[in-house]
Amino acid sequence: MKNIAILCSGGDVSGMNPALKHFVEYSLQNGLTPYFVYDGFEGLIDNKIDKVSHKHVSGIINRGGTMIGSARSKRFTLKEFRDIAKKNLDALNIDMLIVLGGDGSFKGMDIFYKEHGVKFCGVPSTIDNDISGTEYCLGVDTALNVIKDSIDNIRDTASSFSRAFVIETMGRNCGYLALVSALTCGAELCLIPEAEHNLSEHEKDFKKQMQNGRRYFIAVVSEGIKESSQEIASWFEENIGVESRVAVLGHTQRGGNPTTYDRLMAYKFVNYAIDGLLSDKTKSVICYTKSGFEYKSIDEVANTKYRLDSELLNYLKRL
Ligand code: F6P
Repeated sequence: MKNIAILCSGGDVSGMNPALKHFVEYSLQNGLTPYFVYDGFEGLIDNKIDKVSHKHVSGIINRGGTMIGSARSKRFTLKEFRDIAKKNLDALNIDMLIVLGGDGSFKGMDIFYKEHGVKFCGVPSTIDNDISGTEYCLGVDTALNVIKDSIDNIRDTASSFSRAFVIETMGRNCGYLALVSALTCGAELCLIPEAEHNLSEHEKDFKKQMQNGRRYFIAVVSEGIKESSQEIASWFEENIGVESRVAVLGHTQRGGNPTTYDRLMAYKFVNYAIDGLLSDKTKSVICYTKSGFEYKSIDEVANTKYRLDSELLNYLKRL
């Protein structure tokens, strides 16, 4: 029997639990013995590695987060701790690892592979959707649906008063969540780090809309823009003359029942990851593009800067 392990690293996403469930099932179907590594690379170092079977993953498919925990490990950046991690894997005869995480985690695994030859496959998992080479990262659809529900709820109260709401989404330096949410939730304004903006350009138009009877505004802003959300709200009050409120959606975007799409993507990502490792792919990332799933090298993924889809950026200009 060959042994295979999985871990989650970095920000958790909804979709990790369905991925863990399928990992166990598909490993066993392929005659592999599945192992969980708890708490990301920290668990690899601290030897929190357990053999698992069907019973460990029953009842988790509908749960957000990750039942095996995640972490951002500083220690794994140091060789002395990677050496300990390798000893722990050797003791259990594990030489294949699936990592659900972002490009930082994949870079760490690349170094680990070069030093110790542990084969790995990366599954892009971050609500930010900012990994180069893939158009989809696990968890994005669930996060977008959480944001949609929040904006729809806020619209109810925004329209009852006459107010502007500045709704702040996560995404770190990437505006994907904010832009897609603005386009699909009917926002009047969207500000993201990838596009220069000048609020004064909207002044005349927004004032005119108010004179023509508009009661409220929805502005979706990404956490990575240069101004704070409160500053945008003050601009609405002072320059447009409408009372305003800020709603920072924060970590609500990382939780919630995984959508059907994320469950299916989790299934497919894990299938490709296990198939890849069994066909001797040594250090790849499963990427999803318009032409389907493909294995890309970690160098291509980690050393190329992510760029927001140009078609989406063009839509922003028309907002
Ligand atoms: O990378 C995912 C993410 O949720 C970002 O959107 C956000 O900036 C960050 O993680 C928050 O990190 P933490 O959970 O450590 O506060």
